[in-house]
Amino acid sequence: MFKVHAVAPHRLPQLLREMPKAELHIHIEGSLEPELIFALAQRNGVKLPYANVEALRAAYAFTNLQSFLDIYYAGASVLLHEQDFYDMAWAYLERAKADHVVHTEMFFDPQTHTERGVPMATVINGLHRACVDAQAQLGVSAQLILCFLRHLSEEAALQTFKDALPFKDKFIGVGLDSSEVGHPPEKFKNVFALAHAHGLHLVAHAGEEGPPAYMWSALDVLHVERIDHGVQAVHDAALMARLAKDRTPLTVCPLSNQKLCVFPDLKNHNIGQLLDAGLCVTINSDDPAYFGGYMNDNFVQTFEATGLNAQQAYALASNSFEGSFATEQQKNQWLHALKQTFQKFSEQD
Ligand code: HPA
Ligand code: ZN
Repeated sequence: MFKVHAVAPHRLPQLLREMPKAELHIHIEGSLEPELIFALAQRNGVKLPYANVEALRAAYAFTNLQSFLDIYYAGASVLLHEQDFYDMAWAYLERAKADHVVHTEMFFDPQTHTERGVPMATVINGLHRACVDAQAQLGVSAQLILCFLRHLSEEAALQTFKDALPFKDKFIGVGLDSSEVGHPPEKFKNVFALAHAHGLHLVAHAGEEGPPAYMWSALDVLHVERIDHGVQAVHDAALMARLAKDRTPLTVCPLSNQKLCVFPDLKNHNIGQLLDAGLCVTINSDDPAYFGGYMNDNFVQTFEATGLNAQQAYALASNSFEGSFATEQQKNQWLHALKQTFQKFSEQD
């Protein structure tokens, strides 16, 4: 076990910013900033139901997940060409680099685009080209995870998966997102089994707004390797024990939970409780353009609001590597860099 020395409270934010970390829960369509939405709308001749950037931003007052999703899908309507998908991903990857994110596994929602007549090839090729360039030009390792929209049918998900199969070398796994309540994981049992048979990684959103039962079925029916969000697990002691025993990663998104009113305030977030219970918790941005911040905003604001310490900072960053789908060699390299950052901060004290 790596010994983490105490860090003076005023230096903790800088440590959080500088430490290398992985992001495991980012919807790339949720990284579209209002300025880029309007630039792409103009480039593509798409008419938006908002007069300008300020009017769009003013609409970002969410009360729950669905109130956000309605605006999020409207924003994605400006994406038409391969270069649009590239530009969106590249803008995020540059932000990731600035936040010392060394590895990212980005969700994308093909159905949001194919339903508007955008070909699967356009979506995947644009995003994948940005991933390749991120490694070469930014030194950021970037992978893609294809998400199914759970408010649509499993037949639609199966068709989407078949359409994506010719590009299987360009994504590493499948996930499940969109409106959670009323759409339990088991609705997608067959398409997840098929994805597993194709050697893909499996993850699913569960326990964001939905009950612990959805986390059980994500684990035991879909056989996911990670759970996205999962903050509702605290209401089920047996589930907490299971998650701790298996070290199932939870990709927690504090600013998202605050903006979508999952907790009344950031200071009420249960991330400390999840960490104390020995779970493999990670911090992520979810939809940074909509929820008020990228990775370092999530880290700094969460630590300030909930009083987490340097030991927990180390746990969160090392959990992000442990929970990633990177190679053991990559994980060891990032862990080494993480220890060096902590060493530097302890020597300066
Ligand atoms: N939850 C569910 N679906 C989503 C989210 C989320 O936080 N962000 C984008 N799609
Ligand atoms: Zn999400």
